[in-house]
Amino acid sequence: MSMTLRRLTRAATAGLVAAAALTAAAHSAEAADTLGSAAAGQGRYFGTAVAANHLGEADYTATLDREFSSVTPENEMKWDATEPSRGTFTFGSADRIVDHAQSQGMDVRGHTLVWHSQLPSWVGSLGASDLRTAMNAHINGLMGHYKGEIHSWDVVNEAFQDGGSGARRSSPFQDKLGNGFIEEAFRTARAADPAAKLCYNDYNTDGVNAKSNAVYDMVEDFKSRGVPIDCVGFQSHFNSNSPVPSDYRQNLQRFADLGVDVQITELDVEGSGSAQAADYTKVVEACLAVSRCTGMTVWGVTDKYSWRSGGTPLLFDGNYQEKPAHDAVLSALGGSGDPGDPGDPGDPGDGTLSCTATYTRTADWSSGYNGQVTITAGDEPISSWTTTVTLPAQQSVSSLWNGTPTRSGNVMTVRPSWNGTLAVGASTSFGFTVAKNGSDAAPAVGTCTAS
Ligand code: XIL
Repeated sequence: MSMTLRRLTRAATAGLVAAAALTAAAHSAEAADTLGSAAAGQGRYFGTAVAANHLGEADYTATLDREFSSVTPENEMKWDATEPSRGTFTFGSADRIVDHAQSQGMDVRGHTLVWHSQLPSWVGSLGASDLRTAMNAHINGLMGHYKGEIHSWDVVNEAFQDGGSGARRSSPFQDKLGNGFIEEAFRTARAADPAAKLCYNDYNTDGVNAKSNAVYDMVEDFKSRGVPIDCVGFQSHFNSNSPVPSDYRQNLQRFADLGVDVQITELDVEGSGSAQAADYTKVVEACLAVSRCTGMTVWGVTDKYSWRSGGTPLLFDGNYQEKPAHDAVLSALGGSGDPGDPGDPGDPGDGTLSCTATYTRTADWSSGYNGQVTITAGDEPISSWTTTVTLPAQQSVSSLWNGTPTRSGNVMTVRPSWNGTLAVGASTSFGFTVAKNGSDAAPAVGTCTAS
């Protein structure tokens, strides 16, 4: 859609948006029983990453519309999606998300303008002066198209190296334009949409460490020289290798003290049950303790579509049921939901037994491979589980351990051997060896059923 068309369409739907805003207002006057309304009660937004291709799924959209007050397109505003060849802008998928958000009275975060990843190869092949022109044209193209419609933009993403050095990450921008590309991007962005908050966004910067120190120094320098920056985004992708840091709040606060807002931009915490819930609580409490922490975004609606789906890192399970982490977040936000209420589907104690099955290939050789399926109990203890493994036609299983298979053609139904009993959120796994017989394709693992 062209810029002008986009504005015309917006004007035409203004009535609709106003109606949705009224609905949202009426909703928040009631008990704050959703993430978005509870966060609004704390003066914050509570957002999620959204993928345009799931908007047609009724449960996905119902959960999104009910619970969240802000959306971030997960991939649709990235360079490869929006300017796949130089000067040709494609906004179809991003527009779908923005239009949907507006129809529901939700805000939109823009993600992301200048990043080394999901970058079309033509950008990397430009010489310095052309690259500078292309970077500014890209910023102007995106921000112009959505002018006035984005509350915060991740102007530059992940420009610092991981690990202890605090150095800049190698990228076409860094390598050809030097350190100055970041401030140039921010200056261009300010002129393109003066109403948008301009953010620097990164990961492994959530605690005080060499990388966050380097970002801190950059922000301090920008503030002292009047380079326009309004906010720092902390991605906050957590797991056992990268746990919620104990100095998370302190780190958010020191950035806020530089005179910028802070936002939690891509939150997910791998795990399950009460441990996962406790980690989410820490994150929400840290944000609420910092007055300039203006909002939080989780990196997806449901575990099944998470970029780390194997780690079940989100607030709703694959069936859109609220996980213990959801109730913990709602409660930390001061929501008057019903954590632990046995009547609430998806809560612990509701008697609904569930499990998930996830597949990984653990060994591979020319004629065969070993597969492993990990079974994880949901928020009730279980005493048995069943799942299926469907092999590509040519393949055959030569052995299976830690499970009891029943075979029918190329479908194996697998039940426990000794390992049926699982506590809340606990896992077990079975393994098997497959002869490829010419096919290297992965088997399909079916739904897990618990009893
Ligand atoms: C991820 C998306 O979730 C995936 O669907 C995609 O394949 C790769 O990118 N940091 C970021 C996000 O800033 O854009 C990334 O999103 C996750 C890490």
